[in-house]
Amino acid sequence: MDAVTASEPTTTQVRLRPEIAALPAYRQGRPAPADGFKLSSNENPWPPVDGVAQAIAAAALEVNRYPDATALVLRERLAERYGVSPDGVLVGAGSVSLLAQFILAACAPGDEVVYSWRSFEAYPGLVTVAGATSVQVPNRADHGHDLDAMADAITDRTRVVIVCSPNNPTGVPVTAAEFERFMERVPADRLVLLDEAYAEFVRDDASVDGSTLIGRYPNLVVLRTFSKAYGLAGVRVGYAIGPVPILDAARSTAIPLGVTAVATAGAIAALEDANEAELLRRVDVLADRREALREALIAQGWEIPAAQGNFVWLPTGDRTVEVAERLFEAGVVARAFPGDGIRVSVGEEESVEVLLSVLEGLV
Ligand SMILES: Cc1ncc(COP(=O)(O)O)c(C=O)c1O
Repeated sequence: MDAVTASEPTTTQVRLRPEIAALPAYRQGRPAPADGFKLSSNENPWPPVDGVAQAIAAAALEVNRYPDATALVLRERLAERYGVSPDGVLVGAGSVSLLAQFILAACAPGDEVVYSWRSFEAYPGLVTVAGATSVQVPNRADHGHDLDAMADAITDRTRVVIVCSPNNPTGVPVTAAEFERFMERVPADRLVLLDEAYAEFVRDDASVDGSTLIGRYPNLVVLRTFSKAYGLAGVRVGYAIGPVPILDAARSTAIPLGVTAVATAGAIAALEDANEAELLRRVDVLADRREALREALIAQGWEIPAAQGNFVWLPTGDRTVEVAERLFEAGVVARAFPGDGIRVSVGEEESVEVLLSVLEGLV
């Protein structure tokens, strides 16, 4: 496509929804230099294992056909694993798509969605697109969710509460005990979405684990993804486990046929024993690398919050842009939230040394 030209209009008379027109348009972050490291999207640094790559390649030979609209085979595999019926599993084009579906299913214009802030940057836009209103509850001083304040923020208008554990971008998990107390306070007619995109990287046993809570609460849906631990971010596949009537409502708000056969083939292959063993071995390597990186940064004098995802959070405050720029000059693209902090994904082994050498001089 041609680049934007000077004659191209930058405004329109077309009547758009004003709250949508006001949203910042998505712009892709800076690409990493050829010999640098892209540590800005919490991606898995490894390409797919052979068995997964082969399954995707085989599915690619049949892309003249529409996919199975409900991803039944993948739902059956996940259902078996979580001890639920296939209808108790909903597969989406990434868990971000599922988040949108659940918010649309629960919220009418003016309804409220409560979530911690700062958290996953997609939440505010998804809420606005649904016509709902965000209620952002500030993180605690340790950068974790303040679940008491979140429970206090629930009003008559609240339809959804999102809990993100470990929290993106700060890395702090919610504990199982905190989550249990929280669920006791949330009315049973309000939907709680437990967003566990990074569950497989958690090594802190006190953390909440949605897989142990399946069937326990009538208003809880657990969201997981193949994008991170399973390295399938590029094909878009995630899933939700929860009460069937809630999942059915979310099925109705999906854009039909959004989950491709290539994506489900990759996910099914990723769950096969030999492939999954290798993928989870890589997850172990990343979790160990994360611990080593966090400890080294703390030793340098950085205050790094608990980190249970595949990333660490540098609370750089007013220096965020400066620090991110220094990292970029050294070939590292990180995700900067100006005025707040920088999220750095745990990626290639060689990236750690570069990170540590740049950050040492900036404490
Ligand atoms: C907390 C959280 N939830 C959901 C997602 C969405 O992941 P995907 O749509 O790739 O499954 C992400 C991705 O970065 C995330 O960080």
